[in-house]
Amino acid sequence: MRVLALESSCDESAVAVLDEKAGLLAHRLFSQIALHEAYGGVVPELASRDHLRRLLPLVEETLKAADSTSADIGGIAYTAGPGLIGALLTGAALGRSLAYAWEVPAVGVHHLEGHLLAPMLEQSAPELPFLALLVSGGHTMLIDVQALGRYQVLGESLDDAAGEAFDKTAKLLGLPYPGGAHLAALAENGRPGIKLPRPMLDRPGLDFSFSGLKTAAQLALGASGPDAQHRADLAFAFQEAIVDTLVVKTSRALEQTGLERLVVAGGVGANRNLRERMRQMAQARGAEVFYPRIEFCTDNAAMIAVAGMWRLQAGQQEDLAIRARARWPLDGLEGAANQGKIPIKYE
Ligand code: KG4
Ligand code: ZN
Repeated sequence: MRVLALESSCDESAVAVLDEKAGLLAHRLFSQIALHEAYGGVVPELASRDHLRRLLPLVEETLKAADSTSADIGGIAYTAGPGLIGALLTGAALGRSLAYAWEVPAVGVHHLEGHLLAPMLEQSAPELPFLALLVSGGHTMLIDVQALGRYQVLGESLDDAAGEAFDKTAKLLGLPYPGGAHLAALAENGRPGIKLPRPMLDRPGLDFSFSGLKTAAQLALGASGPDAQHRADLAFAFQEAIVDTLVVKTSRALEQTGLERLVVAGGVGANRNLRERMRQMAQARGAEVFYPRIEFCTDNAAMIAVAGMWRLQAGQQEDLAIRARARWPLDGLEGAANQGKIPIKYE
């Protein structure tokens, strides 16, 4: 089977073609960052309109790059939620319509399931079960992944997501949107010294809270003034505080669950400091850590293709109605018959 996948939940329009035997044949992405930059955040209506403009040309380009035509496609996967409802509907409507026209099944994929399965695109993919730390602009979650479709959320952020905290603090520091990667780059020149809290570490449980950290950074910035070195020092301190918190809670979750494999997924998973510190922590515990390649940490359609392929192979498909959900709990998902088996084989 060959699957064409669409992602349009936020500000990236993306398309991928995944083959069950040959693996990922092609993937294309158009980022709307330049469109939203002036507003300091994603403007939902502008996002939807731009997806409308970009998605179909991206489908044509990706099919060509995959050396495929519509006749080669055996199923369509699209992100059905959670995300911005207008943006989701553009991908859902296109995905469902292509499936109707090409007379193939379509399946709506949970965006976070896509993030969780992104490391399956790598040569060294993790076996199940594993613990996942999902850290993106919208979510910070520790998830027990027992089987495909069987996800138990062990802890999550009670307020801001880690990526959101990165972005808000980057904005305070005068960095462009989205600020996570810019803040990480600024932190390279920072020196240790500024003390910021490690939220929730003194409390039991696996939940997170990052809004207080952002406020502490704001106060520290007020005292330090506009000096470039102080800004770099603050970026360093902020990144350390977030990374420390994520590493300690993840270590606790490994301890609690007894799981020996860890997946770090989502946009903040692109943070090199976090990757290195997680690797050290996992090594010390005798656990193995798996990451998607950097470009598949942030939103993309290849990860949606993985989840879609598996669900289509298990016989799932949508009826003709076009559905998308702005909110969609991850642990309410249905499992499927071939649980535990990853559909991708590399030959
Ligand atoms: O997964 P993603 O593309 O979108 C969501 O589904 O939310 O994640 C985007 C988030 C943004 O908050 C961005 O600032 C953050 O990931 N991010 C980073 C880095 N690269 C992206 N945060 C910290 N360090 C990075 N290198
Ligand atoms: Zn995402």
